[in-house]
Amino acid sequence: MLPPVIAPSILSADFSRLAEEVRAVEAAGADWIHLDVMDGHFVPNITFGAPVVKALRPHSDKYFDVHLMIAPADPYLAAFAQAGADGITVHAEAGPHIHRSLQTIRDLGKRAGIAINPGTPASAVEPLLDIVDLVLVMTVNPGFGGQSFLKSSMETVSRVRAMVAGRDIRIEVDGGIDADTVRLASRAGADTFVAGNAVFGGGEAAYAERISAIREGAEGASGRSLSV
Ligand code: DX5
Ligand code: ZN
Repeated sequence: MLPPVIAPSILSADFSRLAEEVRAVEAAGADWIHLDVMDGHFVPNITFGAPVVKALRPHSDKYFDVHLMIAPADPYLAAFAQAGADGITVHAEAGPHIHRSLQTIRDLGKRAGIAINPGTPASAVEPLLDIVDLVLVMTVNPGFGGQSFLKSSMETVSRVRAMVAGRDIRIEVDGGIDADTVRLASRAGADTFVAGNAVFGGGEAAYAERISAIREGAEGASGRSLSV
């Protein structure tokens, strides 16, 4: 298993102070920054586009994990790559040519991720494993922060883990992840953990403590505890 990655989602940050929020979670121990892009069409909410990713880029050296909840995605992939995304994740449900989208992301020199909603079977990613760097299993129906973790997605994570086997592919979970649910996700085989509300919900003074608690949950659940 790869070492766990904790990726705070800035969807739950103070949008009037985004750069400061990114710097604050970076200082608090975030491994990646997760950026949720929503179009009001693929999901029932609108957030931000490539210009915001570009504006934040000079404020952090961390890996920018861009989660596109947009359809179509293809016309915007180059813009997100140029804006400074390190990884770009597209949804299997967002269009008929997901293989092409993933290849385009790779051709742009970025790490390619495939996301699946809670209602999509793990088998949807199987034909794509040779061209992805990350599989994102949604643990809520995408669209909003602060929703409850869906335990039913753990079966999907386990199936993806079995398929991925020894490949160098991260398995990410996103939605309702906190210091408790992270244990279930880690045990099921996830190694990359997005958390919005569980990081940003307690105010800036608590960011470091909250990120540490999520990391300890992930490490403890998978027997990787560094504290012994
Ligand atoms: C959900 C987004 C998530 C979301 C997670 O549509 O993709 O990244 O911000 O937020 P929490 O951790 O609050 O569920
Ligand atoms: Zn997300």
